[in-house]
Amino acid sequence: MLIDICTLFPGMFPGVFGESILRIAQEKRLIDIVLHDMRDYTLNKHGKVDDKPYGGGPGMVLAAEPVFRAVEALRTLPKRGASELVLLTPQGERLSQTLARDLSKRPGLILVCGHYEGFDERIRTGLRPREISIGDYVLTGGEFAAMVVVDAVARLVPGVLGAEESTRDESFSGGLLEYPHYTRPAEFRGMRVPEVLLSGHHAEIAKWRSEQSRARTAIRRPDLLKPEAPEPEPKRPAPGRRPSGRTRKSDRHPRSPS
Ligand SMILES: C[S@@+](CC[C@H](N)C(=O)[O-])C[C@H]1O[C@@H](n2cnc3c(N)ncnc32)[C@H](O)[C@@H]1O
Repeated sequence: MLIDICTLFPGMFPGVFGESILRIAQEKRLIDIVLHDMRDYTLNKHGKVDDKPYGGGPGMVLAAEPVFRAVEALRTLPKRGASELVLLTPQGERLSQTLARDLSKRPGLILVCGHYEGFDERIRTGLRPREISIGDYVLTGGEFAAMVVVDAVARLVPGVLGAEESTRDESFSGGLLEYPHYTRPAEFRGMRVPEVLLSGHHAEIAKWRSEQSRARTAIRRPDLLKPEAPEPEPKRPAPGRRPSGRTRKSDRHPRSPS
């Protein structure tokens, strides 16, 4: 999977993408993450990417031009034809395991990170991206959200995690929270591992886990057990520097909540 990230702060990513599972996934070429500095796409000589809001008010607004030019340049590159364009915004549809799984099946993603007061509205209306929020809170920038999206999506790409079943049983995948885990020793400070897990009886263990999963969900997230309300039809108008720091010059379906 090819993931392009358009950002004003490419230096924020290498640490996060250079460790652990995401690093190995890139080394195995299961995912390829390419960073694009949107300052490279301004036409003014000072590399200015933001300006004061029309109508007044606090803060600065990310201008349309560098975002349009970055996305347009990306779409001319090979392998971006079927990439989904995603704008990270607190006003977008909420990231969930279902959405992460859906995104993991795409050949590519182009993630656009906002900053300051947010995006010039014409980025939404003109580029018609899918808009994704990672939760009901406001971050300083879309970079953090992009990291979360990449991590949630990449681990669902086949081969990224060693054992595919580790995503099959986990929280939210089957609509429930996962059962509790234990490892050695069998007794720690007087707390014993449930006997059934030491029994070697696979059917009993599976039954216990299923019961635990359901009971835990009922206590912690009863909302997950409620039958799903039918979703309203989404408004969806019709429809491309690596972590190491290198910059490569460089489609979409919106899901505007507003
Ligand atoms: C300070 S926020 C702008 C918030 C905007 N003024 C609003 O009230 O909707 C700056 C940028 O951070 C990113 N961001 C902030 N919170 C986010 C969230 N919950 N999910 C995804 N991106 C977020 C977006 O890219 C946003 O453009």
